[in-house]
Amino acid sequence: MLESLPLESWRGPYDQGLKARAVSALENGAVLFFPNLPFALLEPEKQFLDASVSDGQAKNISLDHTTGKMQASSLTGEKAGALAAMMERFGSQAASLVHELLPYRNVERARTSFRPVQVKGRHYSKISDDRLLHIDAFPSRPMQGRRILRFFANVAPSSPRHWHVGQPFEDFARAFLPRVGPHLPGKSWLYGKLGVTRGRRSLYDELMLSLHDAGKLDENFQNNSPHQAVTFPPGCSWLVFTDQVLHAALGGEFALEQTFHLDITEMAEPSLAPVKVLERLSGKTLV
Ligand code: SIN
Ligand code: FE
Repeated sequence: MLESLPLESWRGPYDQGLKARAVSALENGAVLFFPNLPFALLEPEKQFLDASVSDGQAKNISLDHTTGKMQASSLTGEKAGALAAMMERFGSQAASLVHELLPYRNVERARTSFRPVQVKGRHYSKISDDRLLHIDAFPSRPMQGRRILRFFANVAPSSPRHWHVGQPFEDFARAFLPRVGPHLPGKSWLYGKLGVTRGRRSLYDELMLSLHDAGKLDENFQNNSPHQAVTFPPGCSWLVFTDQVLHAALGGEFALEQTFHLDITEMAEPSLAPVKVLERLSGKTLV
């Protein structure tokens, strides 16, 4: 469930044996844990370890590295620029590590986020509450079967980040697929046309959203399905396919996260991708 790798540097080259272990564990649904890989803040960046750098609306501050545009921060001017620079430095280090450690040649670097608000006391609707076990699926971002890979770093000076990691994707999908209702192709088409979604949702996207929601809404599943508590201490990093690994973030403050997207053809074993598992279980072509 947790594969601990002794990397101490953000830059390769890494040992071949270690690289082979990394891709196999990751694709089979483990969280790659880097206990000795801290993302170091510069002295002046330590001022950003403060919940008030968030605008109080969104969960996360996000940065689009292609435009340099930062969203959901209360900061302006030079300070906003310094926070964006910190996020950019983290994102590019995470991208370099992913490039060196994994065999994927075409990895799209998507958004970078900073999570400066303590997870514990937040209040959300069940569907948007990431303290409940879930796989990642986003209403406005159809993936068409592509993967969601996320790199996290705990940059809090003293608080660990607490997660739960759940059962294998296939077990979860087997239990919930029979319960998620029929999907109306007209709705996906309309959402695409109206711009509710970026492009059209495939049947895969509809199923993943239904699985995300059904799992969060099922109290019995939340309380009784097999899961393991994982503690990410300050100064560590981890990497995980969050569209596959059931996860819940229960507590912690000050994490950085970089999202990557990739086509399943990049995978060493594409048959392990959620889209392939769901196609096998449902007997349907989903993308
Ligand atoms: C999530 O992806 O559900 C939240 C993870 C975190 O912020 O630790
Ligand atoms: Fe999540």
